[in-house]
Amino acid sequence: MPPTTAPGAAEVARVQLPGAHAGLPGSEIELPVVIGSEDEHAVDVGRLRDRSGYITLDPGFGNTAACKSAITYIDGEEGILRYRGYPIEELAESSSFVEVAMLLIFGELPSKERLERFRGMLTDEQLLHEGMRYHFEGFPSHGHPMAMLSAMINACGCYHPELLSSEMDEERLLRATATLMSKVCTIAAFSYKMTMGRRMEYPDPSLSYCRNFLHMMFSKPHRRYEPPLQVVRALTKFLILHADHEQNCSTSTVRMVGSSGANVFASVSSGVCALWGPLHGGANMAVIEMLQQIHAGGDDPRTVVAKVKDKKFRLMGFGHRVYKNFDPRAKILEQTCSELLDVLGVSDPLLDIARELAGIALTDDYFLERKLYPNVDFYSGIILRTIGIPLNMYTVMFSIGRVPGWIAHWYELFRDPDRRIARPRQVYVGSGKRPYVPMDARG
Ligand code: SDX
Repeated sequence: MPPTTAPGAAEVARVQLPGAHAGLPGSEIELPVVIGSEDEHAVDVGRLRDRSGYITLDPGFGNTAACKSAITYIDGEEGILRYRGYPIEELAESSSFVEVAMLLIFGELPSKERLERFRGMLTDEQLLHEGMRYHFEGFPSHGHPMAMLSAMINACGCYHPELLSSEMDEERLLRATATLMSKVCTIAAFSYKMTMGRRMEYPDPSLSYCRNFLHMMFSKPHRRYEPPLQVVRALTKFLILHADHEQNCSTSTVRMVGSSGANVFASVSSGVCALWGPLHGGANMAVIEMLQQIHAGGDDPRTVVAKVKDKKFRLMGFGHRVYKNFDPRAKILEQTCSELLDVLGVSDPLLDIARELAGIALTDDYFLERKLYPNVDFYSGIILRTIGIPLNMYTVMFSIGRVPGWIAHWYELFRDPDRRIARPRQVYVGSGKRPYVPMDARG
């Protein structure tokens, strides 16, 4: 066990590099080791190429840290997830989404005064500029809500030029955060109403963040929607559990875009696009489609598991690049699912199928050997389905939850004195130099 040193201090790693490549002397070089506050050890290869001519190759970055960050800590082996040191289980049980957003972005749980002031800013920012209505009308009714969300976030930035400035102090960041967090709810709800051909329900400043979103989504001109408390709590937990997850694909995208100096609206909009993919945020939709397909076909879950093992079927909502024992969020969401269905007095055959699949998979060597367990998406879709969120908006809901995390990482990068534009290298495997061939000589 190497001697442990204080977090951030450095040890040294000795790396033997063969001299196979002409011009590269076989050599042993010493590289600094950086140790994180949870004893994560990283070899700092920032000077590797200068000093040896070698670069590193790590497709998918499974072994590569892109940055140092103090926002979220995940221990995949132990199933630990903490936001700024606070265990996700305690935040999901006791906090509010707005409070968690401030914790992620500013690093501390807010005082009552700061929280109330921020809530007021969220209320002030609920409305969209009336000019944005024309953008909604320009989308086809079958337009995907994720495409609309990404486009409208950037459109929103056009109405707030003062928040696109590169001079971002804490007050301006508070305003940008309130604007983005509040308006993504209004954009999502307005997109839904527009695609349904229904009148848009304007925000109600007397309502909390989650209640206001549910109002804009489900109230009708003749009947105001009053959500049961359990629905509000389930949505709150859903958003808290999705608020951040360190350097996942979409957050890394936000940091990549932000590293060029792009403003927070453009960076968050790029995060929405990355999250859309079915291997990332799109998995919550894919899980429900999978469960519906199993339910409609009357397939025995054991038959489904057999297809997975034959590699004829991917079990959406299972597996994770980091969690190798369990995703703590999945545990909380499964319990939230049960509570919600119990309180509402409804049952959902998809939850029964999900539980049966999980029960079989979690005792099967194929899954155990590959460390495949339910992830955050396995149960979250059932909660959204029970609340009444349409399937094609599930990843939009993930985006609403993830906005504070994206902003927190954008701001952490923005304030990093060592910030550099992200520009990875490559290992070229294409054709060597060859002369141009005129058309008539090409055969
Ligand atoms: C999220 O990074 C984050 O933090 C993301 C996220 C967040 O909060 O931001 O947590 C949210 O994106 C959760 C993941 C949602 N995606 C899914 O549920 C889609 C289904 N899962 C997978 O496709 C997969 O598990 C990934 C993409 C999540 C992880 O992929 P990896 O780490 O690259 O694993 P892999 O594809 O290399 O698979 C390793 C083995 C393979 O088998 P072998 O070739 O070794 O025999 O496991 C198998 C894979 O075939 N495998 C699966 C599987 N996932 C991996 N087999 C069946 N079903 C699956 N879901």
